[in-house]
Amino acid sequence: MKVDTSLNASIGVVCGSSGSGKSVVIKKSLLKVPRLLVWDIDDEYTGPQGVPGVQRFSSMEKLARAVATAKKGRFAYVGPVTKFGAWCRLAFAWGNCLAVAEELAGVTSPGKAPPEWHTLVSRGRKRGIALIGVTQRPAESDKTIMGNASFIRVGRLSRAQDRRYMASEIDVPERYVNGLENLQYISKSMAKNEYFAGTIKVPEKGTPSLTKVRITENPLTIER
Ligand SMILES: Nc1ncnc2c1ncn2[C@@H]1O[C@H](COP(=O)(O)OP(=O)(O)O)[C@@H](O)[C@H]1O
Ligand SMILES: [Mg+2]
Repeated sequence: MKVDTSLNASIGVVCGSSGSGKSVVIKKSLLKVPRLLVWDIDDEYTGPQGVPGVQRFSSMEKLARAVATAKKGRFAYVGPVTKFGAWCRLAFAWGNCLAVAEELAGVTSPGKAPPEWHTLVSRGRKRGIALIGVTQRPAESDKTIMGNASFIRVGRLSRAQDRRYMASEIDVPERYVNGLENLQYISKSMAKNEYFAGTIKVPEKGTPSLTKVRITENPLTIER
């Protein structure tokens, strides 16, 4: 693979407690991504709640074989946490892709993460890898991704420690993060220093379907 350093691959952090709306917004954004690799610990990126066209693998060996020959492909890996390092290595080797790592608190902690994760975060960009890291407990997940993030999205967080930490990371008064409800978020573009307020509407009845999910985002002015 040719390494293309001109690619504007970005790193995103998405945090919020369970049910706040982290995954559904990510899934919506994946509909047209040609090269996708998901660390799908909750097994939700395929099947009825999943993203159309994503293939599910529960064998790392089979996934590695499929990825090795794929010019285009959309893959989700569902397997034990012990495989996280191998998943990171695979994403790094594939390159020019979007890698989505769900529930980082289960596989990393501050000061402890597989070395392959650090490689992906710090050197993936040069291989054209965009990365989205997801966590319910940002204060207890690996923090190297925070310093490298080009955007951070914060949803409702049930624990005060996480709310304080994220308010500080995105540099807003704590009341902004404290006031978030499920299906609401604040996102910050780190590069542009711009804020947005997001609202997610999911259908209350019928079969869940991504096409029925609506997301609205408006610029947000932070009052200090
Ligand atoms: N594919 C989907 N289609 C429609 N609604 C969905 C889909 N996936 C999740 N939802 C809904 O979105 C809401 C937030 O869920 P989710 O984004 O999975 O939360 P989180 O990832 O923060 O735990 C829930 O009401 C859930 O039922
Ligand atoms: Mg989720």
